[in-house]
Amino acid sequence: MICLGIETSCDETALAIVQDGRLVASVMSSQADLHALFGGVVPELASREHSRLIGPLYDALLSEARIDSADIDTVAFARGPGLLGSLLVGAGFAKAFALGGRRLIGVDHLHAHLLAAGLEGPLAFPALGLLVSGGHTHIYRILSSREFVCLGRALDDAAGEAFDKIGKMLGLAYPAGRRINELALAGRADPDLFKPPYLNNDNLDFSFSGLKTAAAAVIRDNGMAGQAAARACGLTLEDFCASLNLTIAETLRHKFERAVQRERGIKSLILAGGVAANSFVREAVAGLARAYDLPLSLPSSALCTDNGSMIAYAGYLLAQEGGRHELDVSCIPRGTAVPADMIFRP
Ligand code: KG4
Ligand code: ZN
Repeated sequence: MICLGIETSCDETALAIVQDGRLVASVMSSQADLHALFGGVVPELASREHSRLIGPLYDALLSEARIDSADIDTVAFARGPGLLGSLLVGAGFAKAFALGGRRLIGVDHLHAHLLAAGLEGPLAFPALGLLVSGGHTHIYRILSSREFVCLGRALDDAAGEAFDKIGKMLGLAYPAGRRINELALAGRADPDLFKPPYLNNDNLDFSFSGLKTAAAAVIRDNGMAGQAAARACGLTLEDFCASLNLTIAETLRHKFERAVQRERGIKSLILAGGVAANSFVREAVAGLARAYDLPLSLPSSALCTDNGSMIAYAGYLLAQEGGRHELDVSCIPRGTAVPADMIFRP
């Protein structure tokens, strides 16, 4: 089976080909520099860029893969959650491509993030998955490549959103998560600067908006606003970033550990999403896996942030189970659950 995967849910136009479970080729064009001019993703510009780029990227993908388009039998696209206008560009391309008998699969972008590690090693189910991205911070019990039970979620800002918004206050370019991570590696974390938010409860949910407010106060009190290079009052930008990283990683580890303690019969842990590229978060979750003697699936950084490979791979797994959608499959905007409307036929 040869599956084309298309990702256009936010500001990356990304395509990939997976053949029999192995990645053959992947291409991507990021619009990050364009949106950085505006301090965040501008939906209308994002969809226009997707529609400008998707055709040439498909041509580049085919030449990298050395595959004839006639040999591609399955096409998967990220159907959401994401920016609706952007998703529609990928969906339109996928549906046109499917006409004439190819299998069409609308992939849940969040599930694809969690399955991506399967491209680099076997996944053991049932697994506990921690998905940490720009728009989501979710904990799942994953029973198979198509059965996901959400156990906890961000009630307000997701972890990546907190990184990006705090970075904006510091005057760092959008999206700031990676840069904050780099700066943190040169700093010393003060564990008392920020309190891990929303732990004093009994649930598996997250809330990072309080941390954002606390960070805003520290930035204001230390005269750090809008001047990323500033050094003030003994608190360096690097130390600030190290402390912030430590607190976010500690918060994620704490709730994920709570899930590990509660859920029975778990065979492995999976860390996924853009923030899974964060070195503090990776270390914290790796420590948790070691402490509970559980294997950890930790995708390489390129598979953590949005990419086409994860969509092609999820499409391949679903197609293998006999899954498919009709041409009327819908796209799902942010904040709305993706419906379980895939048809499974052996
Ligand atoms: O998964 P993703 O590429 O897109 C969404 O589906 O949201 O995640 C993007 C998020 C952004 O908030 C970005 O700042 C964050 O991932 N991110 C990081 C790092 N690399 C990307 N956050 C912290 N540390 C990193 N190294
Ligand atoms: Zn994503």
